[in-house]
Amino acid sequence: MLIMTIESSCDETSAAIVRDGRAILSNAVASQIPVHRRYGGVVPELASRNHIRDIHTVITQALTDADVSLTQLDAIGVTAGPGLVGSLLVGIETAKALAYTLGIPCVPLNHLEGHLTAVLLDVEGVDVPSFPYVGLVVSGGHTDLYLVHELGRYELLGRTRDDAAGEAFDKVAKMLGLPYPGGVEIDQRAALGDPKAIDFPRPMWTRANLDFSFSGLKTAVRNHVQDLGTLEGQALYDVCASFQAAVVDVLVMKTFEAVKRHKVKDVVVSGGVACNSALRAKMREGGVPRGVRVSIAPPLLCTDNAAMLGAVAQFYATKMENQTFEQFKLKATSNLKFGSSTRTRHGAHR
Ligand code: KG4
Ligand code: ZN
Repeated sequence: MLIMTIESSCDETSAAIVRDGRAILSNAVASQIPVHRRYGGVVPELASRNHIRDIHTVITQALTDADVSLTQLDAIGVTAGPGLVGSLLVGIETAKALAYTLGIPCVPLNHLEGHLTAVLLDVEGVDVPSFPYVGLVVSGGHTDLYLVHELGRYELLGRTRDDAAGEAFDKVAKMLGLPYPGGVEIDQRAALGDPKAIDFPRPMWTRANLDFSFSGLKTAVRNHVQDLGTLEGQALYDVCASFQAAVVDVLVMKTFEAVKRHKVKDVVVSGGVACNSALRAKMREGGVPRGVRVSIAPPLLCTDNAAMLGAVAQFYATKMENQTFEQFKLKATSNLKFGSSTRTRHGAHR
């Protein structure tokens, strides 16, 4: 099957062509980072307008790069949520119009499911994990730990109770006077700093549950820096490295706690924060003594992109009837859920 996937849930407009849920033939991404940078975060209305501006360009680019014509496509997959409703709608309405015109199915997809399964695609140098695996999605909006039994069957094991890890990176960066998005800015400066310089708290440092919390850590950084004025040079690098180490320690500890509980041999780390160099290194290091394979996609497949939806698009497309009227009622769902949850209200595992 030849599937075009479309992703527009936040501030990246992207279209990709994936064959048989494995081969990425193209993956065109138009980033809106320069548009939002001056506001220090994503402005939803501007995001929607820029998706409208860019969507045709990325679709044309994806087709050209893959050397595929629209009439060769077997289905269109599109992110239906979670995300910004106005942004999602641009992708959804484009996908519906294309699918209707071409007489092929329009397949609604979950953005997080895409992140979790991106490593099932053929990517040079990345091991394809075996089921079941523990999958951590760490992005600007989510910090979720899943047990992935197989494609289509996911169990939520834990999640953040307040800020997402990426959100904490972005907010701390803002406090330090660094531009949006802050994750990469902190990552670069952390490489020059001492991760032990400041002993920031490791929030939710308990094996009793698999939940996270990052807002207290953010406050600890604020308390530390507020009396110091503008930080520069080594002092800035040390704060970046120490903050990053606190986030990474908790993410790694909880992930391997999930591995132990569920006796799995594979870990997948995904989402924008999976670009973080310390997180990538510590996760890989953690896998070695435990005999656990750690699969992390290259950065371009970790941040938002359409190709990451390729494996799930194929999976759901093969289960779908041919085009039906129902498919054209597809709506954007800002908090679209998937999988089951074994978390209790207090985060403990049943
Ligand atoms: O998955 P993504 O592109 O968008 C969402 O679905 O949220 O993730 C974006 C997030 C941002 O918070 C950004 O700061 C963070 O990923 N990020 C990083 C790095 N690169 C991107 N965080 C830490 N270190 C990085 N190198
Ligand atoms: Zn994402």
